[in-house]
Amino acid sequence: MKPCEHDELMTILVTGADGYVGWPTALRIADRTDERVVGVDNLARREWVERVGSVSAAPIASPDERLAAAAETGRGNLSLVEGDLVDRAFVDEVLAVHEPGTVVHAAAQPSAPYSQINGERANDTQHNNLQSTRNLLFGLHEAGLSDTHVIETTTTGVYGAPEFPIPEGGATMKNQGERDEVPFPAMSGSWYHTTKSFDAANLRLASKQFGLPVSDVRTAIVYGNETEETRQDDRLATRLDFDYYFGTVANRFCAQVVAGYPVTVYGRGEQRKPFVSLEDAVEGLARLALSDPADRPADLTVYNQVTRAISIVEIAETIASVGSESGLDASIEHFENPREEDETHQMEIENARYIELIGDQRVDFEAGMGDVFDVFTARSDVIEAHEDCFLPNVLEE
Ligand SMILES: NC(=O)c1ccc[n+]([C@@H]2O[C@H](COP(=O)([O-])OP(=O)(O)OC[C@H]3O[C@@H](n4cnc5c(N)ncnc54)[C@H](O)[C@@H]3O)[C@@H](O)[C@H]2O)c1
Repeated sequence: MKPCEHDELMTILVTGADGYVGWPTALRIADRTDERVVGVDNLARREWVERVGSVSAAPIASPDERLAAAAETGRGNLSLVEGDLVDRAFVDEVLAVHEPGTVVHAAAQPSAPYSQINGERANDTQHNNLQSTRNLLFGLHEAGLSDTHVIETTTTGVYGAPEFPIPEGGATMKNQGERDEVPFPAMSGSWYHTTKSFDAANLRLASKQFGLPVSDVRTAIVYGNETEETRQDDRLATRLDFDYYFGTVANRFCAQVVAGYPVTVYGRGEQRKPFVSLEDAVEGLARLALSDPADRPADLTVYNQVTRAISIVEIAETIASVGSESGLDASIEHFENPREEDETHQMEIENARYIELIGDQRVDFEAGMGDVFDVFTARSDVIEAHEDCFLPNVLEE
């Protein structure tokens, strides 16, 4: 890696820039700034999906093809460095070479079911996610980049399913007549989600000990496939997974309808889960990344990146009805729940700070799922050929 010549502009680093959320985020940021936008990714997600026997329904171009398309559509300021954030020397070198003023950290092993397969996957997930984040935080500190704005996509999953409305960040705790503001306790429900609870705690520590400005963006379940930028060229498409391990719930239900497979709801499915469209998630991250340094948090700010809580059954019904508008027959089947969860939990979650950040919500659930249906319908042969990936059978025998 050669040192690059720095001018007054500050580089924005986007980790996980080959991923479902990271790629369209990098595109949007590159669109709105003249600054250099440097993506970092080890392309592990491509391999993980292959390992579970599945494939992205939206064909995804190679990193080189993506970058060529980005340059042709006016984003010549976007580049990608391939490397592993678990490798501390690599992280230190990237930080030394690029001296980013902002880091959007979207790299992780993001699948709860994958982390739950066995001890080896739990270890891989926790090692990968925790070490990557620690390397970045300590790397920035030790490189003297203490004004760099760190923005991480953690998850709303760190909150668990409490009986009270979930606050946007901390909560007031009262004990023996005394009260104090405390970070919301980690009540995550998988080995993956716990990595984000731990990251949230480490982000807080880094903001306190190193003085880093931090935005902890607790991201809900993301649905959708298109953003303004990915529509411009097929080579700019982001991935769209539908298998049990890597397909997020709404996207996976949609693929099941297209394949003529029953929509699999685990248990009663009356529990409400938080959702956000890909378009809205990308907008929130881009706005934070491009925020005026004067408006950056002095220490740590938590955003609940969520636009709506919806029950799993409601999602299944909405998807079935969007499908039937396209002439697809959908049935919903309830399977025994492999997860331990309250199947009737009525989640309420505060999101005022996040909504203020993005202005108005841009894409609602029905519209977001319409895009997903279009991709899946065009690629129904691929989905049907991978129908066995809908259920947890690939790696668990
Ligand atoms: N998609 C969701 O519904 C959702 C919900 C909440 C939070 N998140 C979080 O948002 C972020 C992005 O999620 P996503 O759905 O785009 O996942 P993704 O797997 O598509 O993207 C993550 C990217 O990080 C890369 N990566 C992983 N480990 C790496 C490492 N050690 N070094 C370099 N690159 C590495 C992967 O190759 C992948 O391209 C993750 O932090 C995830 O936990 C996602």
